[in-house]
Amino acid sequence: MKIFEANITCKVVEFLKESLKNIVLTGAANQMLYNQFGILHSFENDDELSHLKEQLSIKSDAASEPDRVGYGDFQTNADLSDKVAVHLITQKISPDIIIEPTCGKGAFILASLKRFTQLKAVYGIEIYKPYVWECKFGIMDFFLDNPQANKPDIVIFHSNVFDFNFNQIREKHAAQNILIIGNLPWVTNSKLGCLDSENLPKKTNSKNYKGLDAITGKGNFDIAEYITTSLIDTFQETQMTVALLVKNTVIKNIVFDQSKSKRKISEIRKYCINSKKEFNVSVEASLFYCKMQSSPEFDCIEFDFYSKTQPIKKLGWTGQKFVSNIDAYLYTKNIDGESPFVWRQGLKHDCSAVMELERVKGHYTNGLNEEFVLESDLVYGMLKSSDLKNTVINQPRKFTLVTQKNIGQETNCIKRIYPDTYRYLFTHKAYFDARKSIIYNNRPSFSIFGIGDYSFAPYKTAISGLYKTFHFTLVLPFEEKPVMLDDTCYFIGFDKIEFAVYSLLLLNSKECMLFLKSVTFPDAKRTFTKDILMRIDLFELAKSYSEQERQNDLIKLNETYGLHLTLELWDSFIAKMRPAKSSQPTLEFG
Ligand SMILES: C[S@@+](CC[C@H](N)C(=O)[O-])C[C@H]1O[C@@H](n2cnc3c(N)ncnc32)[C@H](O)[C@@H]1O
Repeated sequence: MKIFEANITCKVVEFLKESLKNIVLTGAANQMLYNQFGILHSFENDDELSHLKEQLSIKSDAASEPDRVGYGDFQTNADLSDKVAVHLITQKISPDIIIEPTCGKGAFILASLKRFTQLKAVYGIEIYKPYVWECKFGIMDFFLDNPQANKPDIVIFHSNVFDFNFNQIREKHAAQNILIIGNLPWVTNSKLGCLDSENLPKKTNSKNYKGLDAITGKGNFDIAEYITTSLIDTFQETQMTVALLVKNTVIKNIVFDQSKSKRKISEIRKYCINSKKEFNVSVEASLFYCKMQSSPEFDCIEFDFYSKTQPIKKLGWTGQKFVSNIDAYLYTKNIDGESPFVWRQGLKHDCSAVMELERVKGHYTNGLNEEFVLESDLVYGMLKSSDLKNTVINQPRKFTLVTQKNIGQETNCIKRIYPDTYRYLFTHKAYFDARKSIIYNNRPSFSIFGIGDYSFAPYKTAISGLYKTFHFTLVLPFEEKPVMLDDTCYFIGFDKIEFAVYSLLLLNSKECMLFLKSVTFPDAKRTFTKDILMRIDLFELAKSYSEQERQNDLIKLNETYGLHLTLELWDSFIAKMRPAKSSQPTLEFG
């Protein structure tokens, strides 16, 4: 049943009915609840007390939950919060003081009352009043069931965490062991922007953003990251432990910032949870653990929360590099250099309804389900990230119109040379003109980007930037024309098929995969970027790729895809790459 829109057990209802029936003053009611449960300031005023008494006499369970997306509301289940508390005990954490910065219905407060028997004070902060009550009702229920349990002083503040003054707690408990435990809101500022929410701090110096406007402008400001780092900054001189459930990106960002911020945190740990199972969401999240009042540390050991036995890996700083797996990186760091070939992003048109075409019996169809005829010259096969599944592709699923050979090239000549193509483009001009990106402003009609001589290289070695598949693909020409890739893909282009294949073998080698896994982060928007790919020193990689290995790999490729390639040009391929090592300009394509 619900009171104040908060779940409450019958046991607590009966208790409150009975014990409040002769109490009329707020002070007396608060004293009674403090004596019974250790909860301070339960009622903020007389109205709240009389309202509760009124509600106790009307049974209600009809209150519907409002939409709370902007509050990143994912309440922790009792089993998980209990496992976290038990885990902390195995780490010899025995707190005097608990702070739950956004306590919700109080799962972590209840787990702490149950597991930490030395507690002297508990502080919970929560913005949503029904949860404040549900948390208090839960505490009452706990002590009614466990009357002998240790009873710390408990305050559940109805407050916005951004307005809450944590200094008062720090000053009061400076000499005690503090544990910050909980589960912070799971929402980024970009999401809040879409929701038109105001759940943001009023002003901050976090990451040198200036004020709320600046924060709001920053796409990925994360309120959980802000709360965590503010708490660390407030308490870093105290004996504090942090154990907070947050998205993995928050942990990555905190460790990344260590090189500049040098916060006094150590023993940084990340215990990966199964968020689908625990919260029914597909967001990678973990228990973030660290200790304060220590020399700053710059890496974080990752464990599986449920087994906790062997560390999975260590992410963080090694020298000047920030990587996702330090051991794997140290093993492969010799290939962290500069690619001898320039990696390129594919073609960008922002007009898929008109520019993504399918070929049906000599006609073309577009995303508007229209059928039309085009001259073949400007039509090229096109591959998207989702097409790059196989190791070799010789046939595209879709086609596109390549309206320019270089960025900014005039497009008027299309009218004269390719009248059908021009008619098609012109009748859809409104779609091109409606493109929002400013890159298209003051450009010739039907402009595209990510286009240049390199786009017309016949053989390409490509990878999807979006997918987490660590696999490169050889893209072969189709109908004697180079195939284009869209802007979610990256590629290096070659005139000779052998060079494309040799680079493919190197890029798909175990060493390269290990290196890429060590420098990429699965939670990044794009797993692979031009910057990451440009770090692969193929020349260096080739040194540890034995002749036997390349023979075997090439035979396998030839057999699987019906190719007849040899390693005859291997030495000239190596020679082509060598200049980059003696700081010659990088090659556009081989
Ligand atoms: C992910 S839930 C977790 C709740 C609780 N810590 C738990 O583990 O079950 C996040 C909580 O933060 C609260 N919250 C969101 N924004 C807040 C703010 N600005 N101040 C205080 N609490 C906030 C939400 O109402 C929600 O209860």
